[in-house]
Amino acid sequence: MDNNIAVSMRHITKAFGTKVVANKDVSMDIEKGEILALLGENGSGKTTLMNMLSGIYHQDSGQIFVNGEEVHITSPKDAYDLGIGMIHQHFKLVDVFTATENVALGMDKKVAKNNKEIAKAIEDICDKYGFDVDPKMKVYNMTVSQKQTLEIVKTLYRGANILILDEPTAVLTPQETDKLFTVIRNMKADGKSIIIITHKLNEVLAISDRVSILRKGEYIGTVQTSEATVQSLTDMMVGEKVELDIERPEPVSPEKRISISHLTCLDKYGVKALDDVSFDVNSGEILGNCWRRSQACSTRKRAARSSIMTPRTGSSASWSDFPSPPSRRWACRSPLFPRTVSAWALSAAWA
Ligand SMILES: Nc1ncnc2c1ncn2[C@@H]1O[C@H](COP(=O)(O)OP(=O)(O)OP(=O)(O)O)[C@@H](O)[C@H]1O
Ligand SMILES: [Mg+2]
Repeated sequence: MDNNIAVSMRHITKAFGTKVVANKDVSMDIEKGEILALLGENGSGKTTLMNMLSGIYHQDSGQIFVNGEEVHITSPKDAYDLGIGMIHQHFKLVDVFTATENVALGMDKKVAKNNKEIAKAIEDICDKYGFDVDPKMKVYNMTVSQKQTLEIVKTLYRGANILILDEPTAVLTPQETDKLFTVIRNMKADGKSIIIITHKLNEVLAISDRVSILRKGEYIGTVQTSEATVQSLTDMMVGEKVELDIERPEPVSPEKRISISHLTCLDKYGVKALDDVSFDVNSGEILGNCWRRSQACSTRKRAARSSIMTPRTGSSASWSDFPSPPSRRWACRSPLFPRTVSAWALSAAWA
C-alpha cells in the first residue's frame, strides 16, 4: 500500500435496519498531511462513514487500514489509540467543568496527569497551532466557537494525527470560520490529516486539497480541489447537470399573508430569545430563514415545539386568509410555512 496513505477504507458497507443502507461499498483513501473535504447531500452517508473511523459505529462489511495495517475499530478508544479523533456536530463537553477538566475526562489512569500539567499542555497546543483556550474557563461560559476549539484541543491532546471535523462551520460566523481555517492549515503544516465534512462549496474550494463525494451512500469519486469548480462539485453531488442560475420570477400580485413587526420575546428564563424581528411573508414566494445555530435554532425549536412564547413587544402580527387561529399542530405540519414562521406567527397573534 502507498506509504503516503494515512487511512484506507475498502468496500465499506453499513446499514441501519433492513431498509437504510447508509454506506454501500465505499472505498476511499485519506492521505497523510492533507485536508480532504467529504462532500455530499443531506443523508448521503458522510457522518456514518466517519463514525466508523472514529469508533462510534462498526461496518457491516469491508476493511479499514491505518498506515497500511488492517485495523478493527470498535470504540472511540480504539480510534484514539490509532491517532484518529472526531469533532462531532454536537459537542461532547461537560458544561460545569473547566476546559482542563474536560480534557482530563476519560483519560486512561495510567497516562493521567494532574490538572496543572494538563493546563500547561493545553497552552502548548494553543501556542503551536494558534488556538485560544483559557484552561480555567468553565464550558458554560464559552461561546460555541470556544467550545469547538476546546473539542479540537482535546482531540489533539489525546494524540490525534487524523482529525475529522463534522460540519464545523455550521455553527460559526464568517470571522470564526476564517480563524478555524487558519488552525486547520497550521495542523496540516504539522503533518496532520484533516477530513472536513461540509456542504458549503465555497469552503471546500477554499480549504481542501482534495474532495471526495458521496451520493446516496455510494462513493462517487475524488477530485483535486485545484481542478474543481462549484458547478463540477454540484453535478457530482447531485448526479446530473444542475442549473445554478435559478430563475426567480417576481410573484404575480403578491398578497401579504403574514406580517411580523418588531417582535421581541423572552424565553422561560427571561432571556431575550427574539429581538426586534420583523418580516412579511407574501403569497407566491418562498421565504428563507438563516440563523446561527447557537442562538436562533434553539429559540425556534423551543417556540415550535412546546412553549409558544408570548411577545414582550411587537406591534402587530396578522395572518390573513384564516378565519380562526390555526392550531399548533397545523402550524407544525404546514408545508407552506417553515415551523419558525408558523410558531412565531402563532405566538405573536394568539398566545
Ligand atoms: N443511527 C441511525 N439509525 C438509523 N438511520 C440512520 C442512523 N444514522 C444515520 N442514519 C441514516 O443513514 C443515512 C445517512 O445518514 P448520515 O447522517 O450519515 O448522512 P450525512 O451525509 O451525514 O447527512 P447530513 O448532511 O444531513 O449530516 C440517512 O438516511 C440517515 O437517516
Ligand atoms: Mg452528517
